Amino acid sequence: MTPRFLAACRREPVDRVPVWMMRQAGRYQPSYREVRQKVSFLDLCRSPDLVARVTTAPIEEFGFDAAIIFSDILLALPAMGLELSFESGERGKGDGGPRIANPVRTRSDVEALRIPDPARDLPFVLEGIRATRRALAGRVPLIGFVGGPFTVASYAVEGGREGFARLKTLLWSDPPAAHGLFEKLTRAALVQLEAQVSAGTEAAQVFESWLGELAREDLEEFSFPYLSRIAAAIRRAGVPSLLFSTGTTSHLERLATLGYDVLSVDWRIPIAEARARARGVALQGNLDSTLLLGPKGNAVTRAVEMLRAAGPEPGYIFNLGHGVQVGTPPETVKAVVEAVQAFTWG
Ligand code: CP3
Repeated sequence: MTPRFLAACRREPVDRVPVWMMRQAGRYQPSYREVRQKVSFLDLCRSPDLVARVTTAPIEEFGFDAAIIFSDILLALPAMGLELSFESGERGKGDGGPRIANPVRTRSDVEALRIPDPARDLPFVLEGIRATRRALAGRVPLIGFVGGPFTVASYAVEGGREGFARLKTLLWSDPPAAHGLFEKLTRAALVQLEAQVSAGTEAAQVFESWLGELAREDLEEFSFPYLSRIAAAIRRAGVPSLLFSTGTTSHLERLATLGYDVLSVDWRIPIAEARARARGVALQGNLDSTLLLGPKGNAVTRAVEMLRAAGPEPGYIFNLGHGVQVGTPPETVKAVVEAVQAFTWG
């Protein structure tokens, strides 16, 4: 039988709505914090056995219907020539945010970027995927992922989470340089996705978190052509594709034409409205992750209301509108997952 997460991606009927959460492995979990006391975030990402352990933990702790490989959208940047580090959020300095010491600022910086060779440059990701598949032993499918070109570019150009002004200015001041950057990030995404699927991932999600920063005409010129190419490559690889973004529901009908099987939508749109507007694709989402920081009973009530609003039509995956937040009580995650698992139309 097809696992319910993969069936829902393909808009096939399921026995119940599948549920997983972006950032389901992370600092809100005591088991994750325990691992992180011993190793840095980057060393964790580069240790296949620890990756398998951290990826599998939320499946065992909460009963999610899919696992997502523990990694990061910025991990390929060092192989492309950018010096990546993560601030240590632990000792009260910073919040764990990424830093790039030599950000991309000029056309020659773009030309100097290399396309990574996943087998040579990211063997730990591929080994992590193989180790995780063994640890999961067929219990749930494993999702691979990459960052979308615009979102990765925002870190590569700004040097961290510094906003979007430099990158957006580059689009208009030097369009060929901007296209050159998106082209390289697209090729980097394609080779990573292909290698991930060969290593054993069973679906591919593109994290294009900050896409909502762009106006429609800039999306058309600087983003959609690249996102369509990535969707086509995932289709050729033979696994379902999911596109995650935030602040983009004003473009929903257009996003539904890019070639993805699933669109992951944020909480800014009622799920029923999103389903009515995004024809021909499955939807994933869209509970406000901040609800899980509040009273548990309220989060559960809102989750059940959302399931009702999403309706019985095939092609719906329960998720949050963005990742699980630090400080979320694990028992609230557990209660929300159990509410989804218990939900019926009877
Ligand atoms: O969802 C999962 O469980 C898989 C793991 C995953 C991580 N990052 C682990 C992580 C995934 C899918 C990502 C994607 C990612 N990384 C995105 C897109 C999704 C989103 O949240 O918008 C982005 C923008 C990044 C870049 C990044 N990585 C930032 C901005 C930060 C620091 C701030 C933060 O949100 O924690 C990271 C670090 C990071 N990536 C952590 C984790 C668990 C925290 C690291 C730690 O343990 O200190």
